[in-house]
Amino acid sequence: MVKTITFDQLKTAVENAYAACKDLQGGQNAHYIPYLANVDSGLFGISVCLPDGRVISVGDTDYRLGIESVSKVHTAILALRQQGAQSLLEKIGADATGLPFNSIFAILLENDHPSTPLVNAGAIAACSLVEPVGNAEAKWKAIVDNMTDLLGGAPQLIDELYQSESATNFQNRSIAWLLRDYDRLYDDPAMALNLYTRQCSLGVTAEQLAISAAAIAADGRNPVTGKQVFDAALAPKIVSLMATAGFYQHSGDWLYTAGLPAKTGVGGAIIGVVPGLCGLCAFAPPLDNAGNSVKAQAALKHLMNSLSLNVF
Ligand code: DON
Repeated sequence: MVKTITFDQLKTAVENAYAACKDLQGGQNAHYIPYLANVDSGLFGISVCLPDGRVISVGDTDYRLGIESVSKVHTAILALRQQGAQSLLEKIGADATGLPFNSIFAILLENDHPSTPLVNAGAIAACSLVEPVGNAEAKWKAIVDNMTDLLGGAPQLIDELYQSESATNFQNRSIAWLLRDYDRLYDDPAMALNLYTRQCSLGVTAEQLAISAAAIAADGRNPVTGKQVFDAALAPKIVSLMATAGFYQHSGDWLYTAGLPAKTGVGGAIIGVVPGLCGLCAFAPPLDNAGNSVKAQAALKHLMNSLSLNVF
């Protein structure tokens, strides 16, 4: 059932969610990526974008945060655009792993399959699939152009984050080479890993992320620029991927309590999609032990519950 909601109701709900969660304690910044460990842990913002392009923002929504795993959604959309829904299903999968985002065990368990483009293994595989295969710079351009179209503005590489992550991504290196061994990478493994690391290091604002979520909610049309970024038929595919694996091993608990297909990142952002109604982003750096922002989760739950927006 598609709900209707007025702009004023939404604005009040965003302000209330911000006020209710702003002093919430708990969690800690991502500690395994040195740049993120040092980000101001007091940052907090919420943005909501409507299909008519209006945006409601409260707090630090113009801070340039590290997009991290939220970028998996954007590049999954690019892979869907370039490969089609069936090919993505066959080459990567659309299943929950029930395990942490960087799990090697999940790849072994699934019998060599990365399961979903929304965990590290599947996201590295998605980067390997991006066309034109074999050309790192052209692939990077395709990733950034697609993200720019979704965000309604360009992301900017945070070079310090990229260096920080490249120097410490040992687990992802293992994942890339394991996938290579299983013939589940479709381009050079080192190149695919580097593209993945670079895309995770892009700086974006919470407001831009909410606009990209609204493009998914509006069947592929960016509501701010008016550009049809991807085919409407792909929108339910990406929303189903988000619902299934957006919170990794806590995806079920999240859906049960928030009723919102969403995707988290260790930079502290979470995007959510209410199909037909709005795209949301909440952002705060301290994370729980699964790598999901404590305050952003609380804010989105508050918003969803206060407006009875549960998509189920
Ligand atoms: O690959 C990593 O570990 C990071 N670049 C991204 C992980 C991430 O954001 C997980 N999400 N909550």
